[in-house]
Amino acid sequence: DILDQARGILSGMSLEEKVGQMTQYDWGYNPINPETGVSQRDLLVEEIRQGRVGSIFNLSGAEEANELQKLIQENTKHRIPLLIGRDVIHGYKTVFPIPLAQASAWNPDLARRTAEAASRESMADGVAWVFAPMIDISRDPRWGRIAESIGEDPLLTSEYAKAWVEGSQVDDGAGQATASCPKHFAAYGLAEAGRDYNTVDLSDRVLREVILPPFREAIDAGALSIMASFNEVNGIPACANDYLLKTILRDEWGFEGVVASDYNALQELITHGVAGSEEEACERSIMAGCDMDMHSGFYMRHLPKLVREGRVPESVVDESVLRILAVKIKLGLFEQPYVIVPSEDVAASARASFTELARESARESIVLLRNEGQTLPLKKQDASIAVIGPLADNSKDPLGCWAFDGNPEDVVSLLEGIRQAAGGGAAVHYAVGCSMESDSEEGFEAALEAARQADVIVLALGEALEMSGESRSRTSLDLPGAQRKLVEAVAALGKPVVAVLLSGRPLALPWLQEQASSIVQAWHLGVQSGHAIADVLFGDYNPGGRLPVTFPHNVGQVPIYYYRKKTGRPPGGVYSSYYIDSTTEPLYPFGYGLSYTEFKYSEVTADRTTIDGDGELTLSVTVSNVGERRGEEVVQVYLRDEVASVTQPLKKLIGFSKVSIGPNESATLTFKVGKDQLAIIDQHMNLTVEPGDFTVWVGPHSSAGQSITIKVQS
Ligand code: IFM
Repeated sequence: DILDQARGILSGMSLEEKVGQMTQYDWGYNPINPETGVSQRDLLVEEIRQGRVGSIFNLSGAEEANELQKLIQENTKHRIPLLIGRDVIHGYKTVFPIPLAQASAWNPDLARRTAEAASRESMADGVAWVFAPMIDISRDPRWGRIAESIGEDPLLTSEYAKAWVEGSQVDDGAGQATASCPKHFAAYGLAEAGRDYNTVDLSDRVLREVILPPFREAIDAGALSIMASFNEVNGIPACANDYLLKTILRDEWGFEGVVASDYNALQELITHGVAGSEEEACERSIMAGCDMDMHSGFYMRHLPKLVREGRVPESVVDESVLRILAVKIKLGLFEQPYVIVPSEDVAASARASFTELARESARESIVLLRNEGQTLPLKKQDASIAVIGPLADNSKDPLGCWAFDGNPEDVVSLLEGIRQAAGGGAAVHYAVGCSMESDSEEGFEAALEAARQADVIVLALGEALEMSGESRSRTSLDLPGAQRKLVEAVAALGKPVVAVLLSGRPLALPWLQEQASSIVQAWHLGVQSGHAIADVLFGDYNPGGRLPVTFPHNVGQVPIYYYRKKTGRPPGGVYSSYYIDSTTEPLYPFGYGLSYTEFKYSEVTADRTTIDGDGELTLSVTVSNVGERRGEEVVQVYLRDEVASVTQPLKKLIGFSKVSIGPNESATLTFKVGKDQLAIIDQHMNLTVEPGDFTVWVGPHSSAGQSITIKVQS
């Protein structure tokens, strides 16, 4: 079996060769040493030739991948293929919507398909290891990496984690396969003040209740690896944190895959101040259970010596190497280290189907936030539309963060999408208006001119792609540059305004409601952005996206998320838990989104309302489409444990279902409620169902719904 095969290989390996397998380098990092004139890559090639590298990443291209694999096959004793990694976060060449957008579709199965397409494309370039999915619970829109996440909710993120792992671990049946790498383990999304890499301090309860469930789901779905995060968790940086990497991951969950550090995270143990030297950092990390060192080179430099000095048992190294070899065996790399380059025909037809999928995914990601006076959908005939804003004639920013394999030339801009959809029927007047970088109002006059000629104004607003993603935290959640002033100038004409927001995070724009009759949250949607948004604007597609994250009124409310506790003094006036200068309510709640049709919910019924702690009941609700067009509704189920031994969230999502319902039609949905939904972590950290009353809501978002009380008896 696989382990025997791995043991067989291991038995002949020298200590240096073993540590080589635990070493990963960034192929893209290639400075030239000014003194020797030797490039980093030349040194790396030499290391690879000597069998001292297990993995590289940031290499793309089948040819280069094959050359390096050949170097190994021809020069090393054990011929252990390289595991080539890459950040394949939301597509590869075909860029899909950012994960936060895909989460807005509330359709994990669709994400499974985009993840699979991305892995198929990356595998054709020799990438067998995708550093995805990113499943950090993200409650802070200041944090730029919220764009890469599934948002704030443990259940929604768990469902996506499972689907994304399954989708991205492809086996093409022809000798090629990919491994996923859920990240970042753990709690990276809770960085203080939303500042990337910042301190994370959280209770074991929040860790286990909120942060860990998606990781558990990813592991149970068969993830072959996991990435430890940069941040400290309660005083111990993750890649040296044996509570996370051993107690939870290995002992409690039985994870047998590879734990990789994040980039240079071993070096950062010194910067964090928990290791005084490279050797110490190395020792802490390996002893905590980190199998692979991403890019610091510490393992290669120090681990053999630490083993020889008896500070690290060789058996610990062996365990890590066995895990790494097992993944390489599972991926079939020993049998087929080379990339099989698909024929042009296959590549072109696959590409076409991925582009179709990109449009489907982008359309489902769009959330309609406001539609006063039913400004939307727009007419295609006899219409005159002004398209204004820095994100209109823009085919770079819709790619979003982490899309370095995508090509702006493949992106359909919003202007292009609108022009194509309108055909010859509507006149389209375009002006950029302003930029996202400066406060200049130079473009305003041309924008007003375009707006004057139109019956309706579409404003394409938001953030540049560089404003979200890693190391892109913001303290403001407003529109950058002169965009707000542009909106105000254009809206002063008194014509209907449709604001389309292309951003990598929730923005706090309460003022926009006064200015725009319709607001469409379109995120960074990838290559089919313009077509997908035009589909929604003209009503060729009825928007069904729902927010996977709470939108605040202002930065001061952050972090604001629906899964909150009551407090001893719930908001309600002086000496309560409130703000003297702001509401405590969100601008748009978690789960929120409108449609061009209207849905009505029946009362919620249950087959029984009293159960035992290990019992189960079934809820039913009928949702009717009382409007005039087919639409998709995301039916959401929330629960509150009214009295428990430990304080509980006011509401927690326990189920959801997305349904498509035709006009004048209804759908009856059922949801099971049992132990998995009712259990809490009690004072002794045990998972328990406590007797008492529970309120369950079924509805369209976290702030609405029909409720029913159920009772658990002792
Ligand atoms: O995979 C990423 C991670 O998400 C952040 N740091 C760098 C890694 C490799 O690019």
